[in-house]
Amino acid sequence: MPTVELVDRERALEVDEGETVLDALLDNGIDWMHACGGFCNCTTCAVEVEDGWDNLSDMEDSERNTLKRFQGDEALDGSFRLSCQAVVQGDIQISEPGWY
Ligand code: FES
Repeated sequence: MPTVELVDRERALEVDEGETVLDALLDNGIDWMHACGGFCNCTTCAVEVEDGWDNLSDMEDSERNTLKRFQGDEALDGSFRLSCQAVVQGDIQISEPGWY
């Protein structure tokens, strides 16, 4: 089972491979904002990926467009993912981007 480590909360979760990061967080009782309900229409669910970027599913255009629309080009620097879109495929380390 992959591990999702929340660096800034000093928590490590064993999660099911193939679920979104958001589902993994919520399934483990982690309170994580997701204002649009996981429909790729906000950025409140974003995570900053500290390690394991390649252990997440590829970013689709819809996610890229949403990040750019709400946070600008700097959100596309290879550090940020929408947790409701990124699927866990291996170990990752994440933190909150501090946007909200
Ligand atoms: S919950 Fe709104 S984009 Fe993920």
